[in-house]
Amino acid sequence: MSTPLLEATGLFKSYPAVKVLKNVNLTVAGGDTFAIIGPNGAGKTTLFKVLSGELFPDSGQVAHEGRDVTTVPAWQRVRLGFGRSFQVARVFSDLTTEDNVVVSVEAHRRNAGLGQRRPLAWAPTAEVREGVMETLREVGLVDKRRVVARLLSHGDKKRLELAMCLALQPKILMLDEPTAGMSPADRKSATELLAMVKERHGMTIVLTEHDMDVVFGLATKVAVLHYGEIVAQGAPDAVRKDPLVRDIYLGHGGAGAGHA
Ligand SMILES: Nc1ncnc2c1ncn2[C@@H]1O[C@H](COP(=O)(O)OP(=O)(O)O)[C@@H](O)[C@H]1O
Ligand SMILES: [Mg+2]
Repeated sequence: MSTPLLEATGLFKSYPAVKVLKNVNLTVAGGDTFAIIGPNGAGKTTLFKVLSGELFPDSGQVAHEGRDVTTVPAWQRVRLGFGRSFQVARVFSDLTTEDNVVVSVEAHRRNAGLGQRRPLAWAPTAEVREGVMETLREVGLVDKRRVVARLLSHGDKKRLELAMCLALQPKILMLDEPTAGMSPADRKSATELLAMVKERHGMTIVLTEHDMDVVFGLATKVAVLHYGEIVAQGAPDAVRKDPLVRDIYLGHGGAGAGHA
């Protein structure tokens, strides 16, 4: 078998009052859309942070293309091609949509040693501007490029955050609940946008989600996290048929995660 793009082995993580991750093992192959699903409180965000380097596990290992990156911090993982967004969108409220993406690109270029030396070089090159426009076009935010981010709708903020990730051309795109707090219509269009982005860039995506329906159209592989343990992992159809998964999800009387 070829080396997995991302592999977690025996991950444990506790906060002072609660054991969150308990022996988590998962394997993401290049090209996968890998969805980590589970009810709220299951430990998805914690696992996501450990995979992206925002938190380090108490024990266990995270490997990227066979290399141990367990204690490589998030900002350095960006150089390895990790791009991530957050459950609650992190954008610069007082900057325009366009400038948010410019700042993201410039910060990344500086991190890679390519940026201009002046702090916040407010004259991005034509090349950077064009790349930013292309990304805004892709996520459907061109018309709102001059709008200050704080005035954007929740759905548009999530789009902007996605644009800030995409503009860095990550090899592995990590999204923590990309449709959190969205209306069903926004959720549908966000899911379609992700499918389109995936198709166009052929990148690997790792996402968390509490709503099963969102992931089944999108994911090539699903891992179900329940009280910090992976209780099922595999192709979406096989996972959906798993009796334990049916019990966890459908036993609560709905197609979603029960407690949203
Ligand atoms: N920084 C923290 N300090 C203490 N407990 C936390 C912290 N973050 C999360 N938790 C707890 O860990 C558990 C898992 O949380 P989280 O990883 O956010 O789950 P999910 O994303 O699946 O909702 C929850 O019980 C939550 O209250
Ligand atoms: Mg979460």
